[in-house]
Amino acid sequence: MSVHKEVKRITTHILQEMKNRGEKISMLTAYDYSMATIVDNAGIDIILVGDSASNVMAGHETTLPITLDQMIYHASAVVRAAKRALVIVDLPFGTYQGNSKEALNSAIRIMKESGAHGVKIEGGVEIAESVSRILTAGIPVMGHLGLTPQSIYKFGTYTVRAKEEAEAQKLREDALKLQDLGCFGIVLEKIPAKLAKEVSESLLIPTIGIGAGQHCDGQVLVIHDMLGINKGFKPRFLRQYANLYDVMNSAIKNYVSDVKGKNFPNEQEQY
Ligand code: KIV
Repeated sequence: MSVHKEVKRITTHILQEMKNRGEKISMLTAYDYSMATIVDNAGIDIILVGDSASNVMAGHETTLPITLDQMIYHASAVVRAAKRALVIVDLPFGTYQGNSKEALNSAIRIMKESGAHGVKIEGGVEIAESVSRILTAGIPVMGHLGLTPQSIYKFGTYTVRAKEEAEAQKLREDALKLQDLGCFGIVLEKIPAKLAKEVSESLLIPTIGIGAGQHCDGQVLVIHDMLGINKGFKPRFLRQYANLYDVMNSAIKNYVSDVKGKNFPNEQEQY
């Protein structure tokens, strides 16, 4: 049975109801039409067009280089595929910090040009004005706290954040601020499970964890990581559900061997 017959489109209201009744929210990244079709048909609640596209699609070391135009290109393809999932798009580095008017323009471009259903934005109180301004245009906003990869050069490493009390306290305050501003949810990345539990229980809106333990209201992973396409990346929080690198590598090796050995195409595979 197709999941599309059960629910028409996941909305931020449905996500809130899911939190209220204790139903966990599933979220995965996707960046292109074919992958997003598979993800949507599998019944995922939220597809994130993450700026991790900068790493896994473009091969950059960090998420910083990806542009707004490139995010819109990826998001448009995902939106064409997603019939049920809510599609949320990362505002890339340099398109919202320190200038709320630019933040609003960036979010409007994403919504208008890709057809996505909302945006995600990294940071707490320091980006409050930008979050507020985007929300005034009726655009759903998801926050992102903890390890925020766009700040990697400030952090210096991708290690667990908010282990010290001062940073944990700032995260608690940031989460409350984002909720008060009107965000519909918050991604909590790579923070201690105990802190994520406390924050998830204190907030009314859903939290979506990545490396933040089992008590978040939902979970998100980067699709290339969970499918094992990204061979070398194996942090503790990552559960690998397939080993597509090896599956694809072996298929391609067989193809090369068949072409070289004149076994492809055969008589049935030609006109
Ligand atoms: O860009 C991304 O993929 C993300 C997730 C890791 C939450 O922000």
